[in-house]
Amino acid sequence: MIIASNFKMNHTRKSTQEFLDKLSTVSTEHTIRVYPPCTALCANPIVGAQNGYPAVEGSYTAEIGLRQISEFGIDKILLGHSERRQFGESQEFIARKFDFYKNENFEIMYCIGEPLEVRKQSKEAVIAYLKQQLQGIDLEYERLIIAYEPVWAIGTGVSATIEEIRSTHDALRELTNKALLYGGSVKLENIAQICAIDNVDGCLIGTASWDVDNFIEMIKRV
Ligand code: 13P
Repeated sequence: MIIASNFKMNHTRKSTQEFLDKLSTVSTEHTIRVYPPCTALCANPIVGAQNGYPAVEGSYTAEIGLRQISEFGIDKILLGHSERRQFGESQEFIARKFDFYKNENFEIMYCIGEPLEVRKQSKEAVIAYLKQQLQGIDLEYERLIIAYEPVWAIGTGVSATIEEIRSTHDALRELTNKALLYGGSVKLENIAQICAIDNVDGCLIGTASWDVDNFIEMIKRV
């Protein structure tokens, strides 16, 4: 299983270091990933960047590119998160980022997920929506991980139901053989059950992962 923590805009350099130090004392067979904010990136094999501009460097105010990310020896990145899409990142732009970091042989945690109005329409509408978010993405890319994160389940405390996760992951499995993570209100109480679903290869966790003790306990429950 792949158990990943997306810090979003939480934690500082100092608290990220404390988090990673404590996490390093835990031995687990699972693959762990941590995506801190860019100010807290550090040389650690489990750390990835939350975002990256599709260029080595240049005049892109407030962005970070390959030069800044790889200074830490980091070769992992999270792309396509719904919070970035809500800020206006188009599918075309995300696909450009994907291509850029793919060409640099990064491990890419690629996020997709539908809004509530699409989920309310039908299962078919959800799959059609997710397929749009996979446009321009090489589903054969060796270092690709896909995270299915329904927008309505993110940060709401209400995760998708087991059946919703199962049917969506089954449909995604028909498109790719890459690892499929679920994200959206994953917590201590539901992580074991979610990870036990066929075609769920792990979880991408926000809120419940920011406390290191809780994150460690979640890893242990999987
Ligand atoms: P929550 O776990 O807070 O719902 O966030 C999920 C997420 O967006 C991870 O990328």
